[in-house]
Amino acid sequence: MVLGVAKLICRICGAEYPPTLRNVCDKCLGAVDVIYEEPHENLKNLLSTRTARGVWRYKELLPITREEHIVDIGAGGSPLTRAEELGKRIGIRKLLIKNDTINPSFSFKDRPSSVAVSKAREFNLPAVGCASTGNLASATSAHASAANIPCIVLMPDTVELPKIRQASMYGSHIILVDGTYDDTNRLAYLLTERARIGIVNVNLRPYYVEGSKTMMFEIVEQLGWRAPENIIIPMASGALLGALHKALRELEGFNVLDDINTAFHGVQPVGCAPISDAYARNAEEVTPVRTPNTIVKSLAIGSPGDGEYALGIVRKTGGTCQAISDKDVIEAVHLLCQTTGIYAEPGGAITIAAAKKMREEGILDEGDEVVCCVTGAGYKADEFIEPRGKTYAVKPKISEVLQTLSAELPILASA
Ligand SMILES: Cc1ncc(COP(=O)(O)O)c(C=O)c1O
Ligand SMILES: [Zn+2]
Repeated sequence: MVLGVAKLICRICGAEYPPTLRNVCDKCLGAVDVIYEEPHENLKNLLSTRTARGVWRYKELLPITREEHIVDIGAGGSPLTRAEELGKRIGIRKLLIKNDTINPSFSFKDRPSSVAVSKAREFNLPAVGCASTGNLASATSAHASAANIPCIVLMPDTVELPKIRQASMYGSHIILVDGTYDDTNRLAYLLTERARIGIVNVNLRPYYVEGSKTMMFEIVEQLGWRAPENIIIPMASGALLGALHKALRELEGFNVLDDINTAFHGVQPVGCAPISDAYARNAEEVTPVRTPNTIVKSLAIGSPGDGEYALGIVRKTGGTCQAISDKDVIEAVHLLCQTTGIYAEPGGAITIAAAKKMREEGILDEGDEVVCCVTGAGYKADEFIEPRGKTYAVKPKISEVLQTLSAELPILASA
C-alpha cells in the first residue's frame, strides 16, 4: 500500500471533497488540489534509506492508493548538473541544470503523465488522453501504451512534426486541430463530458500535476536536503511552477525543510507571454493571448489555466517573470549545447536565456545559486535551429580527411 490521498481541497474557497474524478470546486469553480495525510514515519528518514530512483521514490506524496496501479516506465530521477563553463559565460558561479531531457519520452511531462495514467487505472477508466502543445502527447501516449489503455491526444496542427510522429509511434489516436492550443483544450473538455475518458490535464488534472512535484523533491535531495536559492521555470499553463512550489510547501509541512527562501522565476517566450506580461504590468489578472506567435511552440498556451496562480507564487516568493525573444531562445539552445553537452528544445533552453538576461539586468548576482529547469530534449523541436558545427563531405581517403581538417586543427597539419 502507498500512502493514500487525504482529500481534494479548493484552491479558492477551501471547500473539501473526497478524492474522486473531479478537477473543479462545485461551489466556486476554483481548481482543486490534492492534500495528504502526514506520513507515519519521518519522511526524510524514509526517503534517505530508499534505493528506488525516479518519480515513484516519492510515492508517499503521490496520490495513488494501490501500488499495483502504478505505471512506471522510468520517469524522473534526472541529474542536477553544475554548469561551470556556462556559468562562467553568463556570470553566475553556482549555475545548476535540472536536466529533464533524459526522461523516457524526452521531456519532464513523463512525470505528471506517470501519475495521471496510474490514477486512470485506479479509477478503472477505459481510455486516457490529453490536450497538448507537443510534449504531453508523447508522455501520455508512452504511459498509456505501457498500461495497455487506449489513448487519444489532441494537438494544434502547428506542433512540430517529430512530436506528432513520436506520439503516433506509441499507437495513440492523434487528433490534429486546425486552431490554437486553447481550441484544442476546449475540445478535450468536451470529450470528457461526452465519454468516460481520463484526460490527464483536464479531469485528471489535480492528480496529474502531483507528478511534477518530484522534480523539486529530487532537487532538494540532490542539494543535500536543502531548497535552492533561485529556480527558473518555463511556463505554458503555469502548472509546473505551481507544482514545484507545492512540493516545497509539503516538505515544509512534513518537517523535512524549514526556513525556505526559494525565489520562483517563471519564463515565457515574447510571442506568447500572458503571465509575464501581467507581471510586467503589475496586474492581478492574466489577459489571454489570442494568437500565439513564437517558435517556442511547447510554451504556446494563450490562456494559461494556472496563470494567476503561478503569478501569485512568483510575487509571494520574491521571484520575477521573464519574457524572452525567439532569437535569444535559439542562442540559448546553442550555448547550452556547446557548453554542457545538453541538447534541449527551445521550451527547455529558455531558462538559460532567462538566467543570462536576469544576470545582465542585475536581477541575479554573480554569487547567487540558480537552478535552471531544462524540461525537454532538442531532437523533437529543432526545425528552427541550425547546427553550427562544421560538416565536410569527403571521399573515403585519409589524405582527404587530413587535408580538410588541417586548416582548422593545427594538430593535424603535420599528420
Ligand atoms: C518543454 C516544456 N517545458 C515546460 C512546459 C510548461 O508546462 P506548464 O504547462 O506546466 O507550465 C511545457 C509544457 O508543455 C513544455 O513542453
Ligand atoms: Zn471553491
